[in-house]
Amino acid sequence: MTLAHDAKIHDPKIIVALDYADATSALKLVEQLDPALCRLKVGKELFTAAGPKLVEQLVQANFGVFLDLKFHDIPNTVAKACTAASQLGVWMLNVHASGGLEMMQAAQQAVQSSEAKPILIAVTVLTSMNQQTLNQIGIHTDLTTHVQNLAKLTQQAGLAGVVCSALEASMLRQELGNDFCLVTPGIRPANANQDDQSRVVTPADALKNGASYLVIGRPITKAINPLKALEAIHAECKLFNA
Ligand code: C5P
Repeated sequence: MTLAHDAKIHDPKIIVALDYADATSALKLVEQLDPALCRLKVGKELFTAAGPKLVEQLVQANFGVFLDLKFHDIPNTVAKACTAASQLGVWMLNVHASGGLEMMQAAQQAVQSSEAKPILIAVTVLTSMNQQTLNQIGIHTDLTTHVQNLAKLTQQAGLAGVVCSALEASMLRQELGNDFCLVTPGIRPANANQDDQSRVVTPADALKNGASYLVIGRPITKAINPLKALEAIHAECKLFNA
């Protein structure tokens, strides 16, 4: 019996990153998880290898799917990609805020016109970038200010929220209000291996900082018992509704 039988979770806060090279490996993990306890993130590698069929399979298995393809193109192309993603029945999808206001508005309109109306969020500045890499592409604004500006532009375009570091969450929560959705990767439970993440935050602290959803990969996917690891994170954060 899983913890899900003891308590109802209407809106699971944990999004498990399915960073796998093929559908078989991804499904082997997913079979061990419970849609009442988590959602699933499908990114560029898995989507390119396994395609929409896998996404549909995950949706049919009752998992909320975050399709993390970070669309960035001319407004018409992005809008059409968002329509196609919405038709797969995904729960959440994203675009790059640096595609601009018009591109984001077109994306939001496409999502809103779909039957499923998934949550649309934007990526501000990739956490792999620093001030130097921003300067190299001609952006001389201070990195934090640039993140704030792009998050505000995202809100202005009518999108639901942004992907951000849990370390930026309190600042963005204050700037953008309680209704803005903050999705934070770089999460490590207390005592977990940091892997290649350099600035990590515990799940409980991320939620305290104002994160709406936590993207967690290896602490769950590489665990000997992934479901137990997921349940332990829930217990650590007291994520169960009574
Ligand atoms: O295994 P781990 O928990 O580090 O996985 C984090 C997931 O979140 C990966 O899919 C990674 O690509 C993604 N991500 C991230 N940092 C960002 C944006 C996305 O770690 N800034």
